[in-house]
Amino acid sequence: MKEFKGRVAVVTGAASGMGLAFAHRFAEEGMKVVLADIESEPMAMAEASLKAKGADVIAVRTNVMLEDDINRLADAAFSAFGNVHILCNNAGVAATAATLRSRPWESPLSDWEWTFGVNFMGVLYGIRAFIPRMLENGEEGHIVNTASMAGLLTGANAYNVSKHGVVCLTEGIYREFKGMGAKLSASVLCPGLIRTAILDAERNRPPEFGPATDRAALRPDVRDWAAGFEAALQQGIEPEEVATMVFEAIRDDQFYIFPAQPEVFDVLKTRMEDIIYQRNPTLSVVF
Ligand SMILES: NC(=O)c1ccc[n+]([C@@H]2O[C@H](COP(=O)([O-])OP(=O)(O)OC[C@H]3O[C@@H](n4cnc5c(N)ncnc54)[C@H](O)[C@@H]3O)[C@@H](O)[C@H]2O)c1
Repeated sequence: MKEFKGRVAVVTGAASGMGLAFAHRFAEEGMKVVLADIESEPMAMAEASLKAKGADVIAVRTNVMLEDDINRLADAAFSAFGNVHILCNNAGVAATAATLRSRPWESPLSDWEWTFGVNFMGVLYGIRAFIPRMLENGEEGHIVNTASMAGLLTGANAYNVSKHGVVCLTEGIYREFKGMGAKLSASVLCPGLIRTAILDAERNRPPEFGPATDRAALRPDVRDWAAGFEAALQQGIEPEEVATMVFEAIRDDQFYIFPAQPEVFDVLKTRMEDIIYQRNPTLSVVF
């Protein structure tokens, strides 16, 4: 996609972290922006800060777990601005760092249902609500789905598994777009550790998906690992750096976007080689 000025970007999870940085970056490129998030107050603040910069912006409270909410978001975006050119399916949750080390036969099923509902179904609903209308309008456009390095690495937890789904889904969408000669393209964003509020995601856990993780009940090795992970995330890459990489990837039609720490690539390479050479999984751990 080469033209940005006056075009329209929709970002889910836009009230915080990377989504907020994407919204600012798109506005700086002269785009109209549609913010979507489950958290009304921070989203209102985001809307005000973008308007203060002179951006043309609307905010639509959206729970991406609900197909009706995403359909309403699409209706609001198309009726406000006539078309959508960039869709960032970015909202996501991780039920605390500790759950990344949980065992699937021990972790509550509600963790899986909530995490899949936001991280995977939220992306799928977004694709189904927006792509047919974007194709119909026939203009150039781009879908960016936020997965994670966790979506390329091994982990028997809801977060990794949901993000693997997002990687696979997005690769397939890219192939479909190219195969049909569409003016749309797609990218998958796989961040490493980024300095955001992701590890406080249980602030948005709906009560019907059970109580927040009881840290006191965690295995001591998991508690120690989680504390180290939380500290490392606070030293992570800044969301604005990710926003620059995302913007450049859309402009240059680059599919894989990997803002990640160098050591992650070593583990990824080992996993890929394990698969190609049919070796049993190497027990290297990053996330
Ligand atoms: N921070 C990292 O290190 C990291 C690494 C890899 C991937 N990611 C992914 O990046 C994406 C953005 O997260 P972030 O790191 O900026 O965290 P963040 O918590 O700062 O932002 C996530 C946003 O999503 C919103 N959200 C949560 N549940 C929602 C729902 N049901 N409907 C609508 N909005 C909802 C939150 O309110 C929040 O504004 C997520 O998909 C996350 O999984 C983050």
